[in-house]
Amino acid sequence: MVHRFTLTTPLYYVNDKPHIGSVYTTLAADAVARWQRLQGDQVRLITGCDEHGLKIQRSAAAAGVPTREYVDRMAGHFAALWQRIGISHDRFVRTSAPRHQRLVHEFYERVRSNGHIRLGQQQGWYCVACEEFKDVNGEDGGTPRCDIHDRPLEWRDEENLFFCLSHFQEPIARLVERESFVGPASRRREVQRFVEAGLRDFSISRVDLPWGIPVPHQPGHTFYVWFDALLGYITALSDPDGPQDLATALASGWPAQLHLIGKDILRFHAVYWPAMLLAADLPLPERVFGHGFLTREGRKMGKTLGNTLDPDALFAKVGVEPVRWYLLRNIQFGEDGDIQRKRFLDLVNNDLANTIGNLVNRTVSMSRRWFADCVPPEGEKEDASPHPLAPVATAATARVGRCFAQQDLQGAAMATLALAEAINGHLSEQAPWSAIKDVSRRAAVAAVLYGVLEATRLVGLCLQPLTPELSNRLLIQLGCEPLDSRHGLPPGAWEQLVRWGGLPHGQPLPEASPLMARLELDGDL
Ligand code: MSP
Repeated sequence: MVHRFTLTTPLYYVNDKPHIGSVYTTLAADAVARWQRLQGDQVRLITGCDEHGLKIQRSAAAAGVPTREYVDRMAGHFAALWQRIGISHDRFVRTSAPRHQRLVHEFYERVRSNGHIRLGQQQGWYCVACEEFKDVNGEDGGTPRCDIHDRPLEWRDEENLFFCLSHFQEPIARLVERESFVGPASRRREVQRFVEAGLRDFSISRVDLPWGIPVPHQPGHTFYVWFDALLGYITALSDPDGPQDLATALASGWPAQLHLIGKDILRFHAVYWPAMLLAADLPLPERVFGHGFLTREGRKMGKTLGNTLDPDALFAKVGVEPVRWYLLRNIQFGEDGDIQRKRFLDLVNNDLANTIGNLVNRTVSMSRRWFADCVPPEGEKEDASPHPLAPVATAATARVGRCFAQQDLQGAAMATLALAEAINGHLSEQAPWSAIKDVSRRAAVAAVLYGVLEATRLVGLCLQPLTPELSNRLLIQLGCEPLDSRHGLPPGAWEQLVRWGGLPHGQPLPEASPLMARLELDGDL
């Protein structure tokens, strides 16, 4: 049976062009999606844009552009960037699409008829940048500020529709007790504390906010942007050309196995969203993973600080693979991470150009030189004992699998890198370049080199979800077929591929060419 794996990135606000934070979540999700496809799963990687709400309405107004035109333009930037950097999403959803509105209405009717909607008076301080009411009081007569955006909050006092979150205190408390539901563990405790403090109903409609989905039978009200946005994950599953009702969408890959998000929006995904789904009698996602925030040279990034990192410029300067490698390998996924120019160059040059790139280059060169442009032939094997790299490589590939299963993307990268380092160590120890001078040791050299090439092939396979292009250049350099992690493999194929001994003896090796050029950079990243 084919296993389905639905995972999501957040749906990004289109108040502006993509920033490095949205790139980070998307690259991580892409790596996980590629891994699952290699395992034979039928993957749906969902991404898209969250296009309603006051923040976006105001951004459009500030730009002097009609809102519709503005969101179309911004959504276009996201789609173009994902295309340019090879993100393998299966669905790109936009919450301003008519089919989304239909689905939101259907969902809302279910929740309402189940008795979980009421009218109430909403009073409180609102952060437009967060699109969220904040738990503060404007003491001292002053206007409180958002501690994330450092912007003044806005006072609201209006009649809104409320979602009765309080009805779900018990089931949500039980849900977040489940270890697997929120990752990493430290963030689960944060969510648990929030739930223990008592769940309060939240308002799901706004008055005088034309840029939103109208609430049925409630003239003048549009849906609160988060109520509509989360449902975008389900809309994404429906076929734009097919039937567009809730049931059809749900049948195409719901529930999601994984919501990948940043830590700032954990509460929405781990508390509000499951409660909304319970209110509509729908199945819950299996896991929510909140990653940390990126800083730059130790400082928070922001427009006012003038230290943002424009993804387009960054990719143009250094290419895609170095950015993927740096973000996935350098940062423990789940923790905050810093982008540092020097460390970026060090890691890319040490890990990719030296440890992996040179390994491939010199082993392919040696093999070609001494074994007629081929992988050493079988007949020259000296004895039947397993190559010392075989257990090392097998353990490494197993470790990569365990890491991916728990979103330990750094662990997967490090296990791959450690394998490459072990191969280099083995090469230095065996020094085939000396041994080959002694004709009687030719068979031993053949065995050493075969093992080195075979273990290197496994490095190439493990790199596939992390840095797919580098992985394929490596595999091609060994005369192997590149992998297609955008479309995936049949179930069971990965186990076959990573089995030791898969590299055919005597396979022709193409002329060695540098796998990864050293990165030289004048100026900033
Ligand atoms: N529209 C909502 C999500 C709705 S999901 C149904 C939203 N959008 S966002 O564009 O503001 O943020 C998208 C993601 O970027 C979030 O996961 C957020 O955590 C992440 N990041 C924003 N700044 C970031 C950093 N500096 N570092 C890492 N990720 C950051 O929230």
